[in-house]
Amino acid sequence: MASHALIEKFQQAGQGHVFAFHDELSHEAQRHLVNEASEIDLAEVARLTGSLLGKEGAAGLNLDGLAPAPFEPLPANGGDAEAWARAKQAGEEALRAGRVAAFTVAGGQGTRLGFDGPKGTFPVTPLKQKSLFQVFAEKIHAAGVRYKRPLHWFIMTSHQNHAATVAFFEENSYFGLDKGRVHFFRQGRMPAVDFNGKILMESKGTIALSPDGHGGSLRALERSGALDLMQREGIDTLSYFQVDNPLVRAIDPAFLGWHLIHGSQMSSKMVPKAYAEEKLGHFCVQDGHSVVVEYSDLPMAMQREKTPDGQLRYRAGSIAIHVLDREFIRKMAKSGENPGAGVSLPFHRADKKIPTIDAAGHAVKPGQANGVKFEMFVFDALPFARNPLVIETSRADDFSPVKNADGVDSPQTAREDQLRQFARWLNANGARIQTDASGLPAMSVEVSPMFGYDEDSFAESWRKLSLAPEVTEGLYLS
Ligand code: UD1
Repeated sequence: MASHALIEKFQQAGQGHVFAFHDELSHEAQRHLVNEASEIDLAEVARLTGSLLGKEGAAGLNLDGLAPAPFEPLPANGGDAEAWARAKQAGEEALRAGRVAAFTVAGGQGTRLGFDGPKGTFPVTPLKQKSLFQVFAEKIHAAGVRYKRPLHWFIMTSHQNHAATVAFFEENSYFGLDKGRVHFFRQGRMPAVDFNGKILMESKGTIALSPDGHGGSLRALERSGALDLMQREGIDTLSYFQVDNPLVRAIDPAFLGWHLIHGSQMSSKMVPKAYAEEKLGHFCVQDGHSVVVEYSDLPMAMQREKTPDGQLRYRAGSIAIHVLDREFIRKMAKSGENPGAGVSLPFHRADKKIPTIDAAGHAVKPGQANGVKFEMFVFDALPFARNPLVIETSRADDFSPVKNADGVDSPQTAREDQLRQFARWLNANGARIQTDASGLPAMSVEVSPMFGYDEDSFAESWRKLSLAPEVTEGLYLS
């Protein structure tokens, strides 16, 4: 669109101030501003400002009829062992048939970790200091070898970290993966607005834009052509996980099989919350629909409720691992273009301190929240999915995120959980590695996902060794 037409549109929408300093910018800076402005869907901003900044947004979560969601327990906790075995078989068939791709959402800013760089480049393993991306790459590679079908891997980045992410893969030769099967795409951005709905400017020529949340992945998958690529390749099932979790079973046949057998469009994994205050979303049902209620939204009294047998009532914690059907993603992505139909992902508001400029163009560093950012969450697609399914998983083998610089969910806890897993696998196969009561070994060892990425693959590789290695400090199995 010619810039004067765009400027006029912004003026008509009451957002003309975005171009207040346009005329004093260099040609290049003008082009940059026009490009940013043309990313913005003004009707969407007006709608969100109306709904989320008004009374409706302040009303909080509707808790009417909310109840904990049912889930499929693990065999060890009373689940049907035969059904789990059938699920694993079905998942393996889908992998052999090349129906599955991996998908990592890596567009977050990683502010809490305080690491300067894409979070996926953060070193996490105990000995080799492999990055999160390398751990996932090796798990995906190993699954491709095991099922004789190399997998495609989609990685969602943000504008801020896209170039650095791609460069990291280039520098590391894609960690042995076929470069043609690793696909990066940027997620969308949303402008921040002040409490009156006016778009905030970061500087005279830059709009305060930020990533549109991991829920933006659905429309980004569609827009980037990833869904079409999947279709051409015969892929109909996507294994979704977050960039922060080195323990994730990136490709889990049993989970894939449960999803497929159940005819589900979106399936999820839960772990029982470790304690009431644990910062996990909760799987719930409401009006017959599956929903995730965030830890920040469910009143603490409800998070602490217990069942008669002493367990937490809302114990099904979301670890943000899903399986999604390709055409379901397409439907959700397209419905965003038609918000009146009421099937698109809602936006959530987050009040933030947003560096901006004043009317004279001077920089302002706010001491308190001065505006609102809008984000979508992928789990908000659950109420629209056919046959949504929640299965239980073992935390020790699937979840130990790196979120904070120290304390809970930190590099140290993730390192220790990896060590516990390696020690468990070694001891289950006859090695004698001493651990403390929590299962943490005294020595540091590491297992490459290429050697074993779950109990079964580890046991298989271990059996194939002509001579079992001596298990000592620094042992690396690859
Ligand atoms: C998230 C979930 C929570 C779940 C927990 C499990 C939300 C709102 N909450 O919490 O229910 O129990 O993980 O670990 O998601 N990301 C993007 N683009 C964005 C924003 C985030 O790709 O615009 C990615 C991040 O890179 C990361 C993931 O989404 O991989 C999670 O983001 P984060 O904001 O850290 O979620 P949490 O609050 O930790």
